[in-house]
Amino acid sequence: MRVALVVAATKAGGIGHQGQLPWHLKADMQHFRDITTKTEQPAAINAVIMGRKTFESIPDKFRPLHGRLNVVLSTQKPATLNYPPGVLVASSLQEAFEFLDISPEVIETAYIIGGASVYNEALAKPEYSHYIFMTKVHKDVLCDTVMDMKHLDAYEHDPNFPVQPSLIGVDSGLTTHINLLTHADKQEHKEDDVEYTISLLRRKQ
Ligand SMILES: NC(=O)c1ccc[n+]([C@@H]2O[C@H](COP(=O)([O-])OP(=O)(O)OC[C@H]3O[C@@H](n4cnc5c(N)ncnc54)[C@H](OP(=O)(O)O)[C@@H]3O)[C@@H](O)[C@H]2O)c1
Repeated sequence: MRVALVVAATKAGGIGHQGQLPWHLKADMQHFRDITTKTEQPAAINAVIMGRKTFESIPDKFRPLHGRLNVVLSTQKPATLNYPPGVLVASSLQEAFEFLDISPEVIETAYIIGGASVYNEALAKPEYSHYIFMTKVHKDVLCDTVMDMKHLDAYEHDPNFPVQPSLIGVDSGLTTHINLLTHADKQEHKEDDVEYTISLLRRKQ
């Protein structure tokens, strides 16, 4: 199972404001949906791992995130959270991965999707994040939830991104995702006066 992280952050690491995303970026949401939903193996699905506050920030009609196994981290007892059937509650990141290991479904990629504490914990441990799908928000948007950007020093831009056609298939693990990114309309976007860039980072060897 691959493990990747998906995040949209300002230069200062801002990711949230008042329990919500600080921006509304349609192309980025579409990118998030595609990346986390699509699989290379038809019989497989992906998992999304997130903190309780992130899960609860998703509008009711969209949660659990459709077509993906939702794993929510919380120190609370699952029964007290009363989440819909199919949502797994794990008491630690390690337990989340243990659940995925014994899942009856084939999990192709586990995507760590926030918030700040979960990103920080995952990025501190190489085994918890091989790749980062990074949306860099170039505007200095007001945020009250901030991730630690120093963790990104351990990552570099994937030199194969945008991928050369001749390389497709060499690193089969990433082919679907790189294709999705390559075929996404553009890497540079501007919406609501917010410029942002989507890229793929790989952990340095
Ligand atoms: N820009 C982005 O890409 C992005 C992505 C995701 C979220 N966000 C934003 O970030 C904000 C939410 O992030 P946040 O950092 O405040 O909260 P969060 O990480 O989503 O949730 C924090 C909660 O998750 C649980 N938790 C976290 N790590 C855990 C662990 N290792 N073991 C057990 N439980 C754990 C705890 O729940 P209990 O209190 O129940 O124990 C903790 O209070 C929102 O504004 C959201 O919109 C932004």
